[in-house]
Amino acid sequence: MTIDPRTSVIKKRFSNIKRVIAVTGWKGGIGKSVTASVLSLILSKKGKTCGLLDLDFTGASDHIILGAKDVFPEEKNGIVPPEINGIKFMSISFFSDGKAVPLRGNNITDAIIEMLAITRWGKLDYLIIDMPPGINDTALDVVRLIDKTEILALTIPSIIAKDVLDRSLELYKRLKVPIIGVIINNLLHSKGIGAKSIPYDDKLEASLGRPDKLLKTKFSRSLEKIISELFLSV
Ligand SMILES: Nc1ncnc2c1ncn2[C@@H]1O[C@H](COP(=O)(O)OP(=O)(O)OP(=O)(O)O)[C@@H](O)[C@H]1O
Ligand SMILES: [Mg+2]
Repeated sequence: MTIDPRTSVIKKRFSNIKRVIAVTGWKGGIGKSVTASVLSLILSKKGKTCGLLDLDFTGASDHIILGAKDVFPEEKNGIVPPEINGIKFMSISFFSDGKAVPLRGNNITDAIIEMLAITRWGKLDYLIIDMPPGINDTALDVVRLIDKTEILALTIPSIIAKDVLDRSLELYKRLKVPIIGVIINNLLHSKGIGAKSIPYDDKLEASLGRPDKLLKTKFSRSLEKIISELFLSV
């Protein structure tokens, strides 16, 4: 067995972070990134110290959702994430020069370890992690490397999505990872269907890149209500 000294650095980096919430959904294109980004904006608006980590290396998109232009991490005994609307934000997009990041297998794990080890979040109430789709290296590495990870699952009203969701939740239960709840993103319906659901929001697309506008959307209001019930009151 090889020992990677960076894993002990990760423990130290995360010792001042109260809660780590991975926004997961296993299916692609179901709203994980918008949810993770808007969730961070809501928490920050509520006065919580919040970080957002985009771990979707091949499809990083939170920088677009937050409109992260003209900001860059600062190198200082590690990397200090820049702040956007009060959120400390870290993404591979800062280092990929607008190009695709074709990583696979051990290279993904290595990039995750490096990013977790070098990023200096400082004290945080919440670190939100935007996960790539699928139960893959990133999903397994996050729960292995960050023992305080909790899962916030997203799904859409589809039989296929539900089946994948059920299997994934069963896996996380087996791995003893706490599941905060499941949010249904009604991508095809103008009204939320069922409890803990977000309706389709035709204004969302035009608000991307504008945190102030995003916070005023129907999407954001629904999400705020859901997280108040799920964990903010705790
Ligand atoms: N409730 C909604 N109403 C309207 N548009 C939505 C809603 N939820 C998500 N979208 C839109 O759907 C698209 C996909 O969302 P997003 O990128 O967050 O999905 P994702 O699950 O992160 O995708 P990937 O699996 O590729 O990472 C975006 O353009 C987003 O604005
Ligand atoms: Mg995404």
